[in-house]
Amino acid sequence: MNNSIAILGAQWGDEGKGKIVDLLTEKCDAVVRFQGGHNAGHTLVVEGKTTILHLIPSGILHNNVKCIIGNGVVLSLDALSEEIEILRKSNITVDGKLLISDGCPLILPVHIELDKARELKKGKSKIGTTGRGIGPAYEDKISRRGIRLGDLSNPETLKDILKELLDYHNFVLKNYYECKTFDDVKMYEKLLSDYETYKKYIIDVPEYIDLAFKNKKKIVFEGAQGTLLDIDHGTYPFVTSSNTTVGGIFTGSGVSPKKLNYILAIVKAYTTRVGSGPFMTELFDNDGEQLSKIGHELGATTGRERRCGWLDLVALKRSIVINGFTGICLTKVDVLDQFKEIKVCIEYKNNAPVYKNFDGWMTDITKIKNYDDLPEKTKIYIGAIESYLGVPIDIISNGPGREQNIFKNKIL
Ligand code: IMP
Repeated sequence: MNNSIAILGAQWGDEGKGKIVDLLTEKCDAVVRFQGGHNAGHTLVVEGKTTILHLIPSGILHNNVKCIIGNGVVLSLDALSEEIEILRKSNITVDGKLLISDGCPLILPVHIELDKARELKKGKSKIGTTGRGIGPAYEDKISRRGIRLGDLSNPETLKDILKELLDYHNFVLKNYYECKTFDDVKMYEKLLSDYETYKKYIIDVPEYIDLAFKNKKKIVFEGAQGTLLDIDHGTYPFVTSSNTTVGGIFTGSGVSPKKLNYILAIVKAYTTRVGSGPFMTELFDNDGEQLSKIGHELGATTGRERRCGWLDLVALKRSIVINGFTGICLTKVDVLDQFKEIKVCIEYKNNAPVYKNFDGWMTDITKIKNYDDLPEKTKIYIGAIESYLGVPIDIISNGPGREQNIFKNKIL
């Protein structure tokens, strides 16, 4: 029996993590986000109603689940306030469920300006960021210039660190990027008033998690983005600015590695990527267009079209080396329902992908509930991926709905 599960994207994000987190947290007591910020976009479809979350953990739709934002998350209080409002309008309560670490570095408007200015300056070589200020906020954390949520409790020191931070960035914005600058007095007042609103959510996250495990609670650790966007292990420099891989869980929440007993990889049955950077199996033909169209491959955060391609098992092997996945959830398998031929990359040769071809099953699998009822050709496809990767595919997701899943093995 697993009482702690990590759910991590194994590709470039957008693998369908939100739906699986939502599904598994139903049987859990808490869900913890440990990296990234509101650059993430988790689309949840429950009883036909779509909710897109960026910052608040995907467990928020359940009444008895605590939703924890760990110190590894860069926190935009404006984004948080918008999200709370959206949830409130859908009659989803946040108070009593949302808990936030005082160690979260804040994303300030100046970080968003810097993010956009940098991308503009880079021109063709831009990263293709979400423009949410993620990179500059993490840089300030590492440079020890940043403001953390807990700093808002001390108005005196806050004044000084905010001034120092804005002096520095305003100089760069004005003289290097020739952009607008920011007023520290206005921002100071806004931060103090924000603190009054959000202080009720602040807790000591490591203590909370430790106690929860002592009380036999079950906890899900919800990754954002994907392994290949990891700042250390991804396709640098075309990456995000956090550790999206398993190590990020420990530094970004304060839980001990000894406590984690199941690491679930979310793998989309094909590959997508938003933003710039290498993508070995990218398609520029009709198949790519079909994947994009059938899979509705539009970014949940920016609305940008995702680049599409076949499944890349070479990249996934690397992802397994880094994360040590216990099992896999293969998502969006139904998107392949109408493909006569499906390809999977098994090797790179002369800097090009080598594919293994599979017969498509040409059957609607969206209503299937049991693994045995899947078409033989789907099972061959799934079996081949499993044996190449050497990691069991425990869950198959065959549609966007919460009920559209096939559990091959029980994980909770
Ligand atoms: P940033 O995280 O906004 O700095 O963007 C850096 C890179 O990560 C860009 O290529 C983004 O498109 C990508 N990225 C960030 N968040 C997500 C996500 O949730 N899904 C997919 N790609 C993402």
